[in-house]
Amino acid sequence: MLAGVSRSSVPLWLCVLLVMVSSFRLAAQDAITANFPRFNWQPTQAPPGAQYVGDRVCASCHPSEVATQELTPMARALERVADCEILHRHPTLTVRLGRYTYRIQTRGRISIYTVSDGVSSFAVPIGWAFGQGQAGQTYVYYYSGVYYESRVSFFNDTQTLDLTMGYTGTRPENVEQAAGRRTSPDEAHDCFSCHSTGAIRDNKLEVQKLMPGVTCEGCHGPGAEHVAAVKAGDLQSLHIFNPGSLDTEDLSDFCGSCHRSWQQVEMMHLQGVIDVRFQPYRLGNSRCFDPTDPRISCLACHNPHKPVRTDAAFYDSKCLACHLERGEAPEPSKRRTAPACPVARNNCVTCHMPKYTLPGAHFKFTDHFIRVVHAGEAYPY
Ligand code: HEC
Ligand code: HEC
Ligand code: HEC
Ligand code: HEC
Ligand code: HEC
Ligand code: HEC
Ligand code: HEC
Repeated sequence: MLAGVSRSSVPLWLCVLLVMVSSFRLAAQDAITANFPRFNWQPTQAPPGAQYVGDRVCASCHPSEVATQELTPMARALERVADCEILHRHPTLTVRLGRYTYRIQTRGRISIYTVSDGVSSFAVPIGWAFGQGQAGQTYVYYYSGVYYESRVSFFNDTQTLDLTMGYTGTRPENVEQAAGRRTSPDEAHDCFSCHSTGAIRDNKLEVQKLMPGVTCEGCHGPGAEHVAAVKAGDLQSLHIFNPGSLDTEDLSDFCGSCHRSWQQVEMMHLQGVIDVRFQPYRLGNSRCFDPTDPRISCLACHNPHKPVRTDAAFYDSKCLACHLERGEAPEPSKRRTAPACPVARNNCVTCHMPKYTLPGAHFKFTDHFIRVVHAGEAYPY
């Protein structure tokens, strides 16, 4: 995300990203339109005339998906401040960083963000809360016609405010600068496109129309025609996109439209541990990855309708779908041909998918570059 980039490096980074994103859109359109020909749709972009119906309508026929998906961090990747659980649980948040004191005060549906240096102060109502705080919850406010990203974020581990990731080293000169970073229209557009559904229409940001978070229709496309078809008894053409129809590589690109695709990261030349956040890229670099093998697709290990599993043993069967167990002879069917581990029989991911903390992230990301990790080695990229 762009929040991870320091102030000075934003413009270059952003240009590269935008070139990237547009070329990716062309590439990915093929895989999606081949499977969903009715719409020129992307998870980050609504097609012209798109008719979204909202999760409540899906719930009437798909109650189990809705019941669990609603609780996932993806579903809650964006909240209107009036509905923000973290701010309501912490009606007063304060932190002092250098000479600035930050305060977020929540009363009813309104949260006021104040920054003071003891002499002057700056106060503004917050509009939006981005993220569930596992890595951080960052606030976005609209001030004299521009979206700003807050210089402080809420962190789950400390349950309080600290510098937003990527802001270490910034030296604001006054309270207004200390409050946050002005985003360009393109950048604000991108934030909402990945953290909500239906925000971008005809390449324009329409915050009044967006549904916060990655909703059902964020991954399945606008649903009005599907509901109408089902109600009319037409089960032949369901008029809804099922990403389960994509092969492993196209699915990586699909999830990568927000998590960043392999091509995007490669072209951005992002180097170093920062790229641990880009799972499609790291996974794609593993020797385990085969673009046509469903046993290594995002869906082999993740159910997008449920929160991520954090018990390491859950993933063992996923690895053992390809890898032999120690002492086991290869199967004649050749389904499991990858070598056995000479070291251990379970909790594979604890050694082969190590976790890394990014500076200022307060969160450990899981490296999807599956490999033998040698003690003391530098982060490979
Ligand atoms: C009136 C009932 C109804 C509503 C409302 C409804 N669906 Fe469905 N949906 C169905 C039926 C019936 C099927 C076909 C049988 C099945 O897969 O369960 C289906 C299938 C699907 C599939 C699988 C398609 C495939 O090609 O395999 C997806 C994805 C889906 N629905 C998503 C949604 C989403 C998202 C919403 C809300 C926008 C929604 N549905 C609303 C009844 C409904
Ligand atoms: C429209 C953008 C978008 C798409 C498409 C998308 N994601 Fe996400 N995903 C996000 C955002 C944003 C978050 C961060 C949510 C947060 O913590 O606030 C996230 C978080 C996650 C998490 C961590 C959630 C947890 O439970 O801790 C997983 C796992 C994940 N996504 C997997 C996937 C997979 C698999 C796909 C493809 C099937 C996918 N995502 C497609 C935007 C997206
Ligand atoms: C290309 C899509 C994309 C864009 C653009 C984007 N994000 Fe994200 N963001 C994600 C995904 C995916 C995640 C989850 C994985 C991760 O943390 O890297 C995420 C994570 C986050 C988190 C941490 C969530 C948590 O639970 O800890 C915050 C906060 C956040 N984004 C805020 C923003 C803000 C503010 C902007 C705009 C300045 C922005 N993002 C732009 C896709 C995006
Ligand atoms: C992050 C992306 C994402 C979101 C959000 C999402 N889905 Fe899905 N959905 C998928 C993928 C990927 C599959 C294919 C799963 C598979 O084949 O294993 C799928 C499959 C389905 C199916 C077909 C069921 C099946 O077993 O094949 C239905 C129905 C469905 N989703 C409904 C919903 C509803 C309702 C919501 C909202 C509560 C929702 N989805 C939200 C990605 C998503
Ligand atoms: C072989 C299994 C496997 C595959 C395939 C896989 N993941 Fe993961 N993923 C994991 C594990 C293990 C975790 C860490 C769970 C935990 O302990 O929190 C994880 C965590 C995540 C997270 C949470 C953030 C983090 O870094 O911990 C996101 C987002 C995510 N995966 C996205 C994806 C996407 C997108 C794909 C497809 C490109 C994918 N994963 C494929 C095993 C897998
Ligand atoms: C789709 C099948 C598949 C899945 C699923 C899979 N792997 Fe692999 N893995 C392979 C193949 C094929 C190789 C390469 C073997 C070779 O070159 O001899 C490999 C190589 C490896 C290596 C050696 C890498 C190196 O750089 O030398 C490790 C370690 C490994 N896998 C661990 C895992 C773990 C742990 C999991 C589960 C999280 C997993 N694999 C899931 C197919 C898979
Ligand atoms: C305690 C840490 C640990 C756990 C847990 C673990 N491994 Fe390993 N694994 C290693 C180490 C260390 C090596 C390198 C051994 C060597 O080079 O002598 C290795 C090597 C491998 C290799 C490369 C073998 C080859 O012949 O190239 C594969 C594949 C592998 N592990 C898969 C797995 C799978 C699958 C699991 C879970 C069933 C697993 N590992 C669990 C530490 C672990």
